[in-house]
Amino acid sequence: MKVGIGCDHGGYVLKARVKKTLEELGAEVVDFGTNSADVSVDYPEYGLKVGKAVASGECDLGVVMCGTGIGISIAANKVKGVRAAVVTNIYMAKLTKNHNNANVIALGGRVISEDEAEDIVRTWYTAEYEGGRHQRRLDIISKIEDENFK
Ligand code: RB5
Repeated sequence: MKVGIGCDHGGYVLKARVKKTLEELGAEVVDFGTNSADVSVDYPEYGLKVGKAVASGECDLGVVMCGTGIGISIAANKVKGVRAAVVTNIYMAKLTKNHNNANVIALGGRVISEDEAEDIVRTWYTAEYEGGRHQRRLDIISKIEDENFK
């Protein structure tokens, strides 16, 4: 699996641990930056980079990080085909793969600890999409995209 990661200055605190965790899980990690907590950058740029990499197939999955996980998830979700979910605990991490087949998760560097980020990434990465009734709902989301994205 190839996994794209990206963050702003608020999510940078989690990036190294997330990268290490993904590599321990056997993933090839593509790092889209940013590379410092000290320089303020704009989270939409990094959400877009990871979102485009996942939607184009360059990466299979993505992890984006900002202060809360919220802003960067909103940006990633503007790319057609991206299902980015803000995740703050392992229950959400499991369910967002089981039910939403989330291809991107968003984490908040000012919300969760590095240990929590590792647990979340491990849980989401190893969980499986259940399909079935959930596919009908994802198909509805795809239809919404087809009707509303250019
Ligand atoms: C940056 O200060 C902060 O707004 C950003 O990291 C994120 O939390 C936005 O949702």
